[in-house]
Amino acid sequence: MKPIMEQSYRETLRIIPASDQAIAEAARALSAGELVAFPTETVYGLGANALDGEAVAAIFATKGRPRFNPLIVHLADAEAVSPHALLDDAAKRLAAAFWPGPLSLVLPKRPESGISPLVSAGLETIAFRVPAHPVAHALLATCGLPVAAPSANRSGRISPTSAEDVAAELGDAPVLILDGGGCPVGLESTVVRVMDGRAELLRAGGTPREEIEAVLGQRLASPTPIGTAPASPGQLASHYAPNARLRLNATAPREDEAWLAFGPDAPENAGPSFNLSPSGDLKEAAANLFSALRRLDETGTPTIAVMPIPDHGLGEAINDRLARAAADRP
Ligand code: TXA
Ligand code: MG
Repeated sequence: MKPIMEQSYRETLRIIPASDQAIAEAARALSAGELVAFPTETVYGLGANALDGEAVAAIFATKGRPRFNPLIVHLADAEAVSPHALLDDAAKRLAAAFWPGPLSLVLPKRPESGISPLVSAGLETIAFRVPAHPVAHALLATCGLPVAAPSANRSGRISPTSAEDVAAELGDAPVLILDGGGCPVGLESTVVRVMDGRAELLRAGGTPREEIEAVLGQRLASPTPIGTAPASPGQLASHYAPNARLRLNATAPREDEAWLAFGPDAPENAGPSFNLSPSGDLKEAAANLFSALRRLDETGTPTIAVMPIPDHGLGEAINDRLARAAADRP
């Protein structure tokens, strides 16, 4: 077999199983300013060295992402945050309780942090996350760099939860894709801003609000309602958009609709259909959501009808993504 170094992923996008050798090569690519797509427990990320402004600019170009939408910086462990940002007592408690895991903390930036200002879109804060996925962890530990990584989809589209879905999103962009299989959580991290003695939920996600509130001993301020000016620049109304229209809170499918069902009592559909969790488990539904939307969208259906999903636990994030996928496109 040819060594990976000789393979030409620099010219075309490549999927490589995440062996130790491939992870070492991906770490070298990050150090050299190249882009690497890698699995995390939430979704696949499109990573670049956060200290390298040109590499970070390539993320925005590859995704077609607006420059005002800041990126999350991924680190191998919680200690690596301190040179870059200030953690108050609440931030320390959240980091201790949920890292590694699907939580991002938006924190005040230290002026001496070498992280490129492009990462945080010029804001005084930066979002950090310590992922739990073993491939993400090995990559971060091997390169020893802070890695800026948005979800590895084209801007505005559904986040990828498999290496094949990354490849479908990024086309022929020069990106090495580490294949680590499916993403067990399936929804992006929960984003919480912790500063000035306050903790606010900016994006519902893979860590349920209730668990965060239990650790803080107080309620989190609610995320910005869809359609109003977002506190988190990425929280635009239309996002996660399939080509099909979505019809939410449907009790039964209509003719010519694809059917996204939930729970044991779901009606059948003659056409394409997928049950997010036949047993009614929100964790299973979250893990299946994005790939189910992609698979139903690939049938070319004009409309995907979606059953109501309970709004507690991971249901809050599932309903957030569905509402954005259903929102009017700009
Ligand atoms: O699970 C995840 O979070 C995935 C994986 C790859 O880690 N990443 C991800 O990144 O979802 P992205 O770029 O698709 O979403 C980042 C979100 C956006 O809504 C962005 O606006 C917000 O985090 N964000 C980042 N930095 C921020 C900051 N300084 N202040 C407020 N919001 C911020
Ligand atoms: Mg995203």
